Formats: sequence, C-alpha cells, structure tokens
Amino acid sequence: MTDLSAVPPVTASVMVVDHPLVQHKVTLVRSEDTTTDNFRRLVREISQLLTYEATRDLAMETIAIKTPIAPMQSPVLSGKKLCLVSILRAGNGFLDGMLDLLPAARVGHIGLYRDPETLEPIEYYFKMPEDIHERLVIVVDPMLATGNSAIAALNRLKEAGVSTLKYVCLIASRQGLTALRAAHPDVAIVTAAIDEELNEHGYIVPGLGDAGDRLYGTK
Ligand code: URA
Repeated sequence: MTDLSAVPPVTASVMVVDHPLVQHKVTLVRSEDTTTDNFRRLVREISQLLTYEATRDLAMETIAIKTPIAPMQSPVLSGKKLCLVSILRAGNGFLDGMLDLLPAARVGHIGLYRDPETLEPIEYYFKMPEDIHERLVIVVDPMLATGNSAIAALNRLKEAGVSTLKYVCLIASRQGLTALRAAHPDVAIVTAAIDEELNEHGYIVPGLGDAGDRLYGTK
C-alpha cells in the first residue's frame, strides 16, 4: 500500500491573466468615473475572459461527427460536470459572463457577510446542486481581500464533499492570496490583478471600491 503521508501536497497554480484586453478592461473598472452600466458590462466581459483561462485544462474526448463534407473525429468536453459557485452578492456580477461560455453549468450560491469589526465571514445562505460533490466547482467573487470569505466558502464546499475546486477573482490582494494559498494549496486561482495593500476596513488598495455597490448602484 502507498504511504500517502510521504506524498507532498499538490500545489495548484496562481494565474494572473495579463492579456492586453483584460488589463485594459481592468483599468476601466477600477476608474471611479466608470458608470454603473459600464462597470457591469466590463465585469461581465472580464469574467468571460477569465473563464476562458480558468477552463483551459478541462478534460476532453474525441467523438465521431460528420461535417457536410466528410466524417471526422472531433474534440468535445468530457470529465466532471461543472458548477459555478457565487459568493453573494458581488459574485453574481461574474456569473452572467461565465454562463455565456458555460451555459450548461449548474450554479450554487453562498451568502457570507463580513463582520465589520472582526472582518470574519458569517454564513447566511448556502444552496448547492445535490450532486455538488461530483462536480468541478469554480468559486467566483470579484474581490479577494482578506481571503476570509474565500477560505470559509472553500471549507464549506470541501465539507460538502467537493474535491476539485478553482477560484476566480478580478482583483486579489497579496494578503488574501497568501492566506488562501496557505489554507487551500490544492485550489488553482485565476485573477486579473494582484494589489499590494488592504486598508483598515479590509478594502483592496487601489482596488476598485466596493464591487457589489458598483455593480448594483447601491451607493
Ligand atoms: N470587497 C469589495 O467589494 N472591495 C474590496 O476592496 C474588498 C472587498
């Protein structure tokens, strides 16, 4: 029998998507002059582009089809089915763009709010597909700030039996990224930017402000 304690844990990748289209759009969403409608459209477009990278290693198989000209063997997605999990509420701003590319994916929601004093996450909602444990789960939240919500969400999903997870965000703070990597080294992370600082309220600096408020025009 293999002694698994001798096997080093898998450390998944952190991908910063530095594609010019992504970086241009990230600059526009950061700007305080960007209106709510443009902010929402840009987040949708960025989430599509990040989804493209986050799904780069999906398993494939070849099937037989016929084109109008000839039969051929052609690749299609195979392997685990997908579930996108949004951390409410800003995660929902990412979902539409992701579902544009992954229309058959199931969707789960986790509601977590940050205690304003401790910045610790408090769960108020958890709704997942019944077969979540069989799926590849991509967790989405535009802002990875302290990392506390992301860690709590991933803990909860692992408790529900999920074994294959990725995390996609728009901007990660260095601190949040370090904390998330330490708590969940097996989870691959895709982001468009890494910012160096957090302020005393747990906001990313320079960041883009409150993603939920900017998406939904609530401030
Ligand atoms: N959540 C946000 O919306 N923005 C931040 O900068 C941090 C957390």
